[in-house]
This record gives sequence, structure tokens and C-alpha cells, in this order.
Amino acid sequence: MTIPVRHAQSPIGSRMIINGREVDYYCGTSYYALHGHPQVIAAASDAMLQFGIAPATSLVMAPYQEVEELAKSFFDAESITYMASGYLGMMVLTQALQDDYDIIFIDNLSHYSILDAVATLGKKIVRFSHLTPDDLEKKLAEHVHPGQVPLVITDGVFPVTGAIAPLPEYAQALVRYDRSLLCVDDSHAVGVIGERGQGTFEYHGVISEVKHYFSGTLSKAFGGFGGIVVGDRSLNEEIKKNVRVPLGASRPPIPAAAASAMGIRLLRDHPQMRHNLWRNVKQVRDGLRNLGFEIADTPIPIVNVKGSFSVDLEHVQEELYRKDIVVAHIPPRGYSDAPDVESLRIAVFSTHREEQIDRLLEAIKEAI
Ligand SMILES: Cc1ncc(COP(=O)(O)O)c(C=O)c1O
Repeated sequence: MTIPVRHAQSPIGSRMIINGREVDYYCGTSYYALHGHPQVIAAASDAMLQFGIAPATSLVMAPYQEVEELAKSFFDAESITYMASGYLGMMVLTQALQDDYDIIFIDNLSHYSILDAVATLGKKIVRFSHLTPDDLEKKLAEHVHPGQVPLVITDGVFPVTGAIAPLPEYAQALVRYDRSLLCVDDSHAVGVIGERGQGTFEYHGVISEVKHYFSGTLSKAFGGFGGIVVGDRSLNEEIKKNVRVPLGASRPPIPAAAASAMGIRLLRDHPQMRHNLWRNVKQVRDGLRNLGFEIADTPIPIVNVKGSFSVDLEHVQEELYRKDIVVAHIPPRGYSDAPDVESLRIAVFSTHREEQIDRLLEAIKEAI
């Protein structure tokens, strides 16, 4: 059986309608299923009725102000720049900082947003081995000339494997280079990890040795839409001076801004949602480990099951689909950080119920 293209007939949820069938849904990036939350949908609808789809100029409408104020407070940040997509975030961030570094080092399996961002900068780019501080250290020593300032860029959490970048080790490698910078695309971590959901820097604890910034998205955990760059006043000035995107591109549609603002509010006011997510992630990760898979013990809701000679994961995915459970099958190297063998990507939501996860684990056990 080939799995048909997934057509949804309901909002996103841990239980939703796909291809006309009610299924348990374990794909995508809506880790709290906020995209399907009635208050998020209502906020978008109300904003649409009040303001329409978009300002068509640089007019500031209330939902834009609201989303930036809420995000500032959520991330304890002096400035938030809200833009059309998380994909643009790293481009805005690295263009803003362009006068502050000379040479760029990127994780070899960085997300496409990073690859496209660095291509606009006209500076030397060096790749270091995926998640490997030793190799970064070696490449820094090899390529940074005296007086040059290095910038290191990586995903905070990688989208297919759910691996967390070792930021403290990268900072350690950078500390001997004066004014060095560390920038992270934290799209899969914001709202998810760290005591207050502020992302990978918060998860690792304060990294004070090296100046660092991150971009992120409101289109995943926060249940809304659009990208953010999180920074301070000086970054804000550099964005104004060096970046054309805020001048030349429309911001996200107004209903998307209103939905994003509501998503931030819900996550801020209901920390229980994060605890439910971590609880569910633990149930899935422990359960898969008990089935014999090698699964890291992390709070990341992206759980990657790697293929081997003894397990045909396409068959596992088909068997799950037959039982109305939908997970993603990722071909070898099928995405930026996809492993070089096939894998299943299981996205855990805070709204999955315990018995749903039991059903998932039981179905995997029967299929392998
Ligand atoms: C690491 C990473 N950065 C950026 C993006 C793009 O975010 P957005 O959908 O908000 O453009 C993605 C999308 O999946 C991603 O995985």
C-alpha cells in the first residue's frame, strides 16, 4: 500500500480528519496543536473581520503591536522583529550583523534557511561537521586570520532528528576569538524548551562568554504564523541600517498576527501545556527505547526512529496508517538534517492522550 497524500478536512489536532478518516496525528510542528485551538482560530477570525487580510502598506495595526509586545515579554527581549516567515529570520539576523563579523562557520546539516541566508552575505563560509564542537574548533583555528571575527550559525534543534546543538561547547570554542558571535535558528525550540520556553539558549543555561542571538518562528509551537528575530536595542538599530526585508516585504497577514499573539498568550498563561508536552515526550521516548530503538532522553517533541537492516520503516508507516495513526516517513537525506538511512519522524503534541501514545507504541511493536 502506498500512503496517499495527506489531505486534511479538520484543523490540526492530535486527533483529526485526514483523507476522510479520523486519525491519531503525529506529524508536523504544531507541538501544542495550537493551530487548531478554538481561541487561536477565533482570534484570527475576529482580526480578519475587524481589519481584513493585510495592511498593504506599512500601516501598523493592533495585532502587529500585540504580537511584538507579547513576544518581547515572553523572551525577556528588548526588541522583536516580526516578519513573513521564520525562514527569513536568519537572513534578517545575519544581514543586520554584517558589519560585526568577517567569516562564517555553519553546521554541515544546517536548515535551508541558514544556507540561503549565508548565500546573501558575500563572506567566506566554512562548514563544520554536524554537532561536532571539536571540528568547529579545528576549522576556526584553520580559517580565522588574526584580527578576524568569526560568526557561528546552527539550528538550535534540528527539524528531523530533534538533535539539540551543543551551544555551550560552541561558545567555548569561540571564546578565544575577540567579538565572536553565535547565531541560532531556533524555530523548533522556541515555546518548547527552556524553563520558560525561550529556546535552546535558555535550555543550556545562560551562555555569557560569547555574544549570541536567535531567530525563530511563530508558525510551529505558538500555533500562529510568521518569523521573529529576538534581540536587543543595538540589533534593532542594525536591522534598520542593514536589512531591506522589513522595508521591502509585507508582514504576515493580520489574522496570522492575531493568531500568533493568542498562541503566545496561551503558552504564557498555561505552563501546564509545556509540562504535558514533556510528559508525553517522555512516554514516547521511553516506550520506543523499551522496544529496542536507540532514542535519546531529551525533552524534544521530535522523535526520530532510524531504520536498520532488520526493520522496514516504510512498512511500519503503512501498518500504522492502516490503524489510523499517521507518522512521517523520511527518506535517506530527504531533508536538511535527515539521516543517511530512512527514518520515521514522530511529532509529539501536548494534547496526545496517554492511551493514544500506548496505541502508537503497541502498533509500532506489532509492525516491527
Ligand atoms: C529550522 C527551521 N528554520 C526555519 C523554518 C521555516 O519556518 P517558517 O515556516 O516560519 O518559515 C523551518 C521550517 O520547517 C525550520 O525547520
